[in-house]
Formats: sequence, C-alpha cells, structure tokens
Amino acid sequence: MNSIIEVNDLVKRYGDFTALNHLNLEVQQGEILGLLGPNGSGKTTAINCILALLRYDHGSIKVFDQAMTPASKDAKRRIGYVMQSVGVIDELNVRENIDYFCSLYVSDAKKRKQMVSEAIEFVGLQDFQKRMPKKLSGGLLRRLNIACGIAHKPELIILDEPTVAVDPQSRNNILEGIKELNRLGATVLYTSHYMEEVEQLCDRITIIDGGKKIAEGTKSELIAQTNSSEKIYAEVGDLSEAQLETLRKLPFVAEAVLNHGELCVSCGKGDNNLSALLAAFEKHKIDFGHIRNQLPTLNDLFLEITGKELRDTHA
Ligand SMILES: Nc1ncnc2c1ncn2[C@@H]1O[C@H](COP(=O)(O)OP(=O)(O)OP(=O)(O)O)[C@@H](O)[C@H]1O
Ligand SMILES: [Mg+2]
Repeated sequence: MNSIIEVNDLVKRYGDFTALNHLNLEVQQGEILGLLGPNGSGKTTAINCILALLRYDHGSIKVFDQAMTPASKDAKRRIGYVMQSVGVIDELNVRENIDYFCSLYVSDAKKRKQMVSEAIEFVGLQDFQKRMPKKLSGGLLRRLNIACGIAHKPELIILDEPTVAVDPQSRNNILEGIKELNRLGATVLYTSHYMEEVEQLCDRITIIDGGKKIAEGTKSELIAQTNSSEKIYAEVGDLSEAQLETLRKLPFVAEAVLNHGELCVSCGKGDNNLSALLAAFEKHKIDFGHIRNQLPTLNDLFLEITGKELRDTHA
C-alpha cells in the first residue's frame, strides 16, 4: 500500500502547551481514514501541520511521498481541504464562491465551468446557485463549504468535522457524498469527534487524545482490542435464583444480572452468543419478551484506554 500522508513523531507546541505529542499518522492510498478524537485532542492542529499551514517543533511530514512545505504548490493542487470553520466569501454567491476556489487551481475557464457545475450537482445545490452564503441554512452552507474544497477534483481530500451543527439528513447526504468521492478514487482524511460517523464512513480509524495516537485499526480490529464484550438484554419478568445460576454457568456467559425484570447477560468473546442464549432459554423453559444485543463500541475502547467517555466530550 502506498502512503499518501505520512506523519512521523510530530510535536507541536503553542507556547508551553503541547498540542501534538509525538503523533504518528498514516493515510494509505484509496482509503477513508478517520481521525477520531475529543474536542481539543489536536485534530485541526495535525491537519494544519500536514498542509504546512502551521510550523511544528519536531517530526516530519510527507504528502504524496514528498516532504510537505509551504512551497509545495504541486502537492497543494492535488489536495482539497474542507475547513472546520466554514471558509466562504460572503460577497460571492454559491456558484461564484465555488468558481473562485476552483480558480486557485484551475485556470482554464471552460474546464472550470464544467467542474463548478459538477461540484454544485454533487452537493445538491442546483436550486441555490445564486443564493448568497448568509441566506443559506447551516446544512446548505456546509455543503457549499465542501463544494469549494472539492471542485478541482483533488486526489486527496481532507475534511475537518464537516458535519458539525448539521441536521441528520444533511449529515447523511454529506457522508454519502464523501463515500462517492472515495469510490471515484479520492483518498480521504476525515476528522470527527462523532464515533458513529467514523464507524459508518471510515475504512480505518486512528483515535487520538491529548495530541497522541492511542489506538488505530479497522473498526473490527479496534473492537477486538476492547476488554468489553457483547451484552444481551432480555425482558424475562421474574427469574428464580436457581435459573439465574443456571445461566451463569453457561460457557459463553461471563455475568448475568436481573434488574427490574430485564436480564442482562455479559458474554465472553465468542460468536453466536445470541443464538446460544436463545437455545438456553428454550432448554430451561425461560419465557422472554423483547430481546436486544449491544456490541462493544469504540467508546468502550476509548473509555478503557483513557478512563473517560468519548461521548461526554461532544461540543
Ligand atoms: N493558536 C492556538 N494557541 C494556543 N492553543 C491552541 C491554539 N490552537 C489550538 N490550541 C489548543 O491546542 C489543543 C488542540 O486544538 P485543536 O484545535 O487542534 O483540537 P481539535 O481536536 O481540532 O478540537 P475540536 O474537536 O474542538 O475541533 C486544544 O487544547 C486547543 O485549545
Ligand atoms: Mg478541530
């Protein structure tokens, strides 16, 4: 696999504060890499270093196999950057904004017209081409921000929390759009503090906290690193202590507790826990109503490594 971005041992300090603490990060060609971390963990700082917009104190960064510097014009032309803070020009309408950002990379006006039209269609802003940014809803403004970043058809797209403050439907559109760009060949670096988004979108995930990488892998590789296990919840009404003991002795059961008529079974690491439990219910004549299972999440892993909840850190 070719590395499109290689960050080695990156240290970035703001005065006495260390924002990136020996960070390593790799984005491989053709993948969607999710950079997941709570607010203030250093995601935007890492991106700004990668794009040579920010000086750093130690380490090295390669993009497209070349050292990245402020003068790396060729590399920058091949990158699309969608900033966390919407960066459009208030005096230009939707179409003019996209055309302006595209013109920074593409000088041929005819070619650009085509690219701008495609970008507008891609983010679904056909009906708003003449609208000024201030008159757009939050979701539409985010879509414009994305169109400005991708109109020149970059090979590498870096998106910094593009769905913050966006309603669920627009968020889904944005995520589907990013998947489509990836299918069309773009490599994607996507930052978020929303675990579910990164789980849904990304091939691989790097989790950072306090400017450090704390875990990386595919979703299933990360989940396999947790000590947490699948939990099955079943409405069972009343169970005798003897029935509970029987369940606890089943080989795949680590723990079984009854709480207000709901049985919670914590399972071992194996597969097919649900069907094994259903078979046990039948064998031991345990009636049940609603039943659901909960697989371990990235939040469990984050909690185990850092002792705090990823969820609680949402803005
Ligand atoms: N210019 C700056 N001067 C001083 N400290 C800064 C500066 N920019 C960022 N920081 C601090 O560095 C840390 C990392 O910030 P950064 O913006 O990279 O985090 P983030 O992961 O992008 O957070 P968020 O999810 O809120 O966007 C934070 O503690 C932040 O307060
Ligand atoms: Mg940020």
